[in-house]
Amino acid sequence: MKKTEMQGVYRDKKQIFTENLESSKGIKAYNERIVKQKNKEYRSWNPYRSKLAAAILNNFEFDLNKDSKVLYLGAATGTTASHISDIARNGIIYAVEMAPISMKKLLEISKKRENLIPILANANHPDRYNTIVPQVDLVYQDISQRNQAEIFISNVKTYLKKNGSGILMVKARSIDISLNPEQVYDKICSKMKKEELKILKIINLSPFEKDHVAISVSVLE
Ligand SMILES: C[S@@+](CC[C@H](N)C(=O)[O-])C[C@H]1O[C@@H](n2cnc3c(N)ncnc32)[C@H](O)[C@@H]1O
Repeated sequence: MKKTEMQGVYRDKKQIFTENLESSKGIKAYNERIVKQKNKEYRSWNPYRSKLAAAILNNFEFDLNKDSKVLYLGAATGTTASHISDIARNGIIYAVEMAPISMKKLLEISKKRENLIPILANANHPDRYNTIVPQVDLVYQDISQRNQAEIFISNVKTYLKKNGSGILMVKARSIDISLNPEQVYDKICSKMKKEELKILKIINLSPFEKDHVAISVSVLE
């Protein structure tokens, strides 16, 4: 297992891995492979199941380290959130999900992960979780809704620290099927710029996901 340039992300041949938390040893979050080496456990990170893994394999760079505080919108059953929890091992992940069925699995995973806080809420209403979520270093969103840009902007404005960053996973087809994907990405970027967000990087998630990009942003000073 070799370290990569991204803190907490490892590589073995073509696969990437994160180191399983001590408290979660032997436990899988989905059907990932567990590899044991020198008293450590590494969980394979599947780019077909996690858009963040797809982005990393396509050389997406972003700020996430062992102390990061993360607001994760659209955590579903915790596939990607579990890997972020491995990386931000001394930090904390506030994982917002509105579907009760997914929340059940997320709750189960979080029992063995002290740094993963599941929140059953609709991300359209950031004020509804302001008693739980503080200012964070990273706002990460993976919600396939037509108004995903608006949801992202309102959460970034409410919760992102001054020097923090945001990552939005965009699925072109869930926004407007009458436009081609490039037009959708342009539209989203101009919406964010209007709201004083600076676009840092845009990475296509092909071949793992069709018509998806990851966009990273920071807040203009
Ligand atoms: C594509 S899935 C997320 C997959 C997950 N990020 C992963 O990689 O493990 C999108 C999730 O967003 C949730 N979602 C959709 N709209 C939402 C909203 N307004 N607030 C919170 N969650 C929402 C859905 O219930 C679904 O679980």
